Amino acid sequence: MSSGRRPLVAGNWKMHKTVAEARGFCEALAGMVDPAAPVDVAVCPPFTALQASAEALAGTAIAVYAQNVHEAASGAHTGEVSAAMLLDVGADGALVGHSERRAAGDTDAQVAARVRAGIDAGLIVVMCCGESLDTRRAGETEAWITRQVREGLAQATAADIDRLVIAYEPIWAIGTGETATPDQAQEACAIVRAVAGGVVDGQQLRVLYGGSVNPGNAAELMACPDVDGALVGGASLDPESFAAIVAAAA
Ligand code: 13P
Repeated sequence: MSSGRRPLVAGNWKMHKTVAEARGFCEALAGMVDPAAPVDVAVCPPFTALQASAEALAGTAIAVYAQNVHEAASGAHTGEVSAAMLLDVGADGALVGHSERRAAGDTDAQVAARVRAGIDAGLIVVMCCGESLDTRRAGETEAWITRQVREGLAQATAADIDRLVIAYEPIWAIGTGETATPDQAQEACAIVRAVAGGVVDGQQLRVLYGGSVNPGNAAELMACPDVDGALVGGASLDPESFAAIVAAAA
């Protein structure tokens, strides 16, 4: 983490938590996070719990991000949600291009269009990238994340720096309990920063690591010079463990 960049810790709940559970989580988390700590904090509930989460966190500094956003403003897109709809229920941002979305069919071109649409609407966009185990074993990690970052930022401009975050999440570390080593996380996040630096000011860009982050490994991962925070899955579902990761970032 560089002293010039404010860390961000975001909790991706994936397909977990009802409205009542989200409300309870947010109320508990609000009491555990030090509002003066120098770290940005966000939760990413499923669409159905965005509004309740935003209401429960109103008046706190904790932000609410969606887990995806569609590129179109409206139209015949069954099952999709637009950026304006997210803003309408109080969301501040959205993940784009999570590997679980890409596995469900989201393409690089859609990721690029969603980054553009989300930022244009005024959302913070966390664009995700990361390689599979096969890609890593083949020695193609750098080429893979270079392509994902280039294509994901194909419609981005330098002016987007304040609303753009990139998360490096190696697929082999997601939900597996197998975390990238700090050296692996640093190496990949430095590549992300360098490639994104062709579009935005790389020194200002926040690059997060995600993949089996927990209270025990968060501090050493976020101590890497190019790791500016964490995108947390499983360990973000419990307010105490998520708050501990936030504290490690601060
Ligand atoms: P885990 O922390 O459960 O490995 O999930 C990481 C992730 O996919 C966050 O977006």
